[in-house]
Amino acid sequence: MRSLFAALPLLVVAAAPAFAQDARPAQTASSPDGAITLSVSTDNDQRPTWSLSRKGKLLIAPSKLGFILADRIGLQRGFAIESVERASGDTRWEQPWGERRFVRDRHNELLVRFRQDKSWGGHAMNVRFRLFDDGIGFRYELPEQAGLPTAKIVDEITEFDIAPKGAAWWITGGEWNRYEQIYQKTPIDAVATAHTPITMRLDDGTHMSFHEAALVDYAGMWFKRGEGQKFRATLSPSSKGPRVIRDLPFATPWRAIRIADNAAGLVESDLELNLNEPNKLGDVSWFKPMKYIGIWWGMIRGDWSWAEGPKHGATTARTKQYIDFAAKHGFGGVLVEGWNKGWNGNWFGHGDEFSFTQATPDFDLKAVTEYARKKGVQLIGHHETGGNIAVYEAQLDDAMKLYGQLGVGTVKTGYVADAGGIIASGGTPGTTAMEWHDGQRQVQHHLKVVETAAKYHVAVNPHEPIKDTGLRRTYPNWVAREGARGMEYNAWGAFANGPDHEPTLVYTRMLSGPMDFTPGVLSLEGANKAPLASTLAKQLGLYLAIYSPIQMAADFVENLEKYPRELEFIKQVPADWSESKLIAGEVGDYAIFARKDRASADWYVGGVNDAAERTLTLNFDFLEPGKTYTAMIWKDGEGATYLTDARHRIAYDTVKVKKGDTYKLWLAPGGGAAMRLAPNR
Ligand code: NOJ
Ligand code: CA
Repeated sequence: MRSLFAALPLLVVAAAPAFAQDARPAQTASSPDGAITLSVSTDNDQRPTWSLSRKGKLLIAPSKLGFILADRIGLQRGFAIESVERASGDTRWEQPWGERRFVRDRHNELLVRFRQDKSWGGHAMNVRFRLFDDGIGFRYELPEQAGLPTAKIVDEITEFDIAPKGAAWWITGGEWNRYEQIYQKTPIDAVATAHTPITMRLDDGTHMSFHEAALVDYAGMWFKRGEGQKFRATLSPSSKGPRVIRDLPFATPWRAIRIADNAAGLVESDLELNLNEPNKLGDVSWFKPMKYIGIWWGMIRGDWSWAEGPKHGATTARTKQYIDFAAKHGFGGVLVEGWNKGWNGNWFGHGDEFSFTQATPDFDLKAVTEYARKKGVQLIGHHETGGNIAVYEAQLDDAMKLYGQLGVGTVKTGYVADAGGIIASGGTPGTTAMEWHDGQRQVQHHLKVVETAAKYHVAVNPHEPIKDTGLRRTYPNWVAREGARGMEYNAWGAFANGPDHEPTLVYTRMLSGPMDFTPGVLSLEGANKAPLASTLAKQLGLYLAIYSPIQMAADFVENLEKYPRELEFIKQVPADWSESKLIAGEVGDYAIFARKDRASADWYVGGVNDAAERTLTLNFDFLEPGKTYTAMIWKDGEGATYLTDARHRIAYDTVKVKKGDTYKLWLAPGGGAAMRLAPNR
């Protein structure tokens, strides 16, 4: 049946009367393993619709597709399927760095060409669906066509009518603090407007996440609930009125849905990466995954200042001290914030005084980069913009060139401004356009920064960023970003992030890509002795739970030195893996990963727990058969809990293990664990 429809789409459509009572015959496709099935059709009002089932169970009930446009009747009604095209692929591609070295891309594809009746505008709208065993992606492709040179998109009407009941973990879209929120867990039918990825666990245990891939020259999607469990893609606003303005032809980002039987399936999926274009930068071996320290925690806590003056953090002397520490302990980089001019005034949400090339008088940029080079360490640069991209873009090329020349291989950027507070040039001199952190203008900006940086072999790590949509595949110098509440919040209040935060991030924010979370606060103390909701072992477990190819050890170096055995783990743990598996975990509760070092035969195991103590039986199934390994273990000590001073109680263990062995691991409230498994000769 399917192939008949595929071959004769025009006939099928033409046979239906203009206002049929029944929906038109559907075009269907399935995932390579046959579990996921898609159906694409038009409804009684000739509106394009799609629906999705898995293992025979309806997941997405018929949901609309289309756009509201600003200058004409939208791409909503009067459509028929004109033709379809089918394809499939099974390839393997290599990541220059990441959670795993090789990624398999096995999918079936269905391209559906919709054509609107003349009375509704007569426009063409194509939708390309890709079905994988672990989910689906679809995007609109608006082909070149007479009478529609430019799409002025007011909003999408893309719907996701989720059929089964379940729970959702989400943060609010359109809020003042962007993505830096504590995740809420609610029934699916109590979600409001969420950022993506949004994670759901259906009542039958199926796990799903809704997100997008390849967000290029378009607005970020928020996931807005209407009636019941019916969600709609709504786009981040723009100063221009229409939320997206694009000349045809163009393709939208992919709307992506991961689907899995369990939490591990969700976490191990590479769906969005597979939906992105291959590497456009070629050889990026100039970027090396690394761990770093920084002149940072002191500013975040308020002990030092970004601004010049007696408390100024970024002095030449302190930077050299940090470089010495990095060299001694094998850290690849030293982040220095507050090194440049512009911090003295009102920078938060203004940023008009920032220079990205001129250092403060007490910071000798040339001298410290030379000193670093001699010691085999890189300076990590910093560009805080205060949200003022007009000022930043005017200096962007000079700033990246300078870093490139000085051997600064990575730059952390920042956009500290309330949502809607991005200051862009209005197009003509002296005019300003206020934009959103995830609107089309800011999406364009981030790619401009990444491409400019790449010219000078600089990698980029934005804070207050646009969310990750897998673009690191195409631009592998886009190495990490913030885009969630990071460690910094723990400096500002007792238990600020709470014990559930990291075991929730693993299954939500982290599905989108690497995060510069900045673990490694071994003192477990923010400003005014504010305690972290973490045991000491959890700080180590974070290096396994929250992936980034640049991993910070965020505490003051004096504090890192106070915990030599923990520092030893941080020194050893890689930031680049050949394999990654979630070996135990549930959304919001706990997460234990096993990851294989890309540079050796060592495995590392570890992760994080929420507020409830628990004992796990870990299975070393992932080890190579026939080999024995020595496992060095850092784990919560007896009686450890994040709630009291016992948060520093840690225990060590060394055991011999082989494939198939198990290990009983107790995780404290707010606890965690870390292990290194080295093969014995
Ligand atoms: C917020 C960032 O998250 C933080 O890491 C940085 O230090 C400050 N902005 C200043 O740029
Ligand atoms: Ca931040």
